[in-house]
Amino acid sequence: MSVQTVPTVKATEPNEHGYRSFSLGELTFSRDEYFVYIKWPTGRHVMSVDGFLRALQRDVAWEFFYGIVNFDGVIGTVNHYGTVDLFAGRYNDAFRKAELDHVENFETAVIKATFKAMLDDWTNAAFDPFASPHETGGAFGPKNGDNRAAINRRRVAARRMVGVPGDEALRSDAAGFPINRQFLDVPQEEPEIIAEPGFEGEVCAFNLFAYLSRSNVTWNPSVVSACKNSLFCPTTEEYILPVIHGNDRVEWFVQLSDEIYWSVEDRDTGAVRARVIMKPGDVAAMPADIRHQGYAAKRAMLLVWENASPELPGLIASGKAPTNAIDF
Ligand code: PHB
Ligand code: FE
Repeated sequence: MSVQTVPTVKATEPNEHGYRSFSLGELTFSRDEYFVYIKWPTGRHVMSVDGFLRALQRDVAWEFFYGIVNFDGVIGTVNHYGTVDLFAGRYNDAFRKAELDHVENFETAVIKATFKAMLDDWTNAAFDPFASPHETGGAFGPKNGDNRAAINRRRVAARRMVGVPGDEALRSDAAGFPINRQFLDVPQEEPEIIAEPGFEGEVCAFNLFAYLSRSNVTWNPSVVSACKNSLFCPTTEEYILPVIHGNDRVEWFVQLSDEIYWSVEDRDTGAVRARVIMKPGDVAAMPADIRHQGYAAKRAMLLVWENASPELPGLIASGKAPTNAIDF
């Protein structure tokens, strides 16, 4: 028999703006109408609440993702796949040199429960942290309702491929996924499948561009096909990736439409390493020792190709696998 304990969330009563404050170890989080305030024993930090909630939403929905999720240049999490570090200033050269940075490690279930409770309490009825700024109301102001349908969206994760019977379904108007305003020109025809006799039930195909044209979220890679640890995670992008991702493995990008500007920095210090402008058809392999943040002026389709092997972070950290995909 296994006993499941629900992790306790440490929260205060609502403040004068209607929002609770939360604590994890020695870190505290509070919000008012515009800002989030984070305090730890050697420092404090402030973020705009809209950007904070967009980052928090992704960290929660992605189960702390691969490697590091920086909410900005100061606050973030490191995924150790079972436990998670919550840090302040740890990947910021100035905080490190002044010895004002702070790191605490939590069981994944504990930090997840607190992050979920904070996202729930601080997201007002009008705000959808996954939507593009053009397609959501504001995050600001005093506490005003909640938006549980938006923050608890089910994550698409195909076991084999979208469209395979029993797996993730195609999107349609009827299923509540209209074509996005910026993808109205994307053809919607599905491929015709002509299978050899005897293989009719074993061949499957779908129109990925049509599928993506009906995405109602931004900067949210979802698994549309899986071959062992090789995951195709396309996504539609508009405005700014709300996190600065510090990867623990190489990650491939294939630009499927439009244009994305990437700012690439050293993962540990934040020093600028590259600016990359990706146009349709461009392919990039992001090294495992960088962090990156994307900017899309118009909604764009991006294929993120992940190798989800659990052995990779250890192989790279110990130098047995390289941090870059290719040597020229
Ligand atoms: C990434 O960190 O590589 C990333 C995250 C979310 C996206 C695209 C790329 O939507
Ligand atoms: Fe990344």
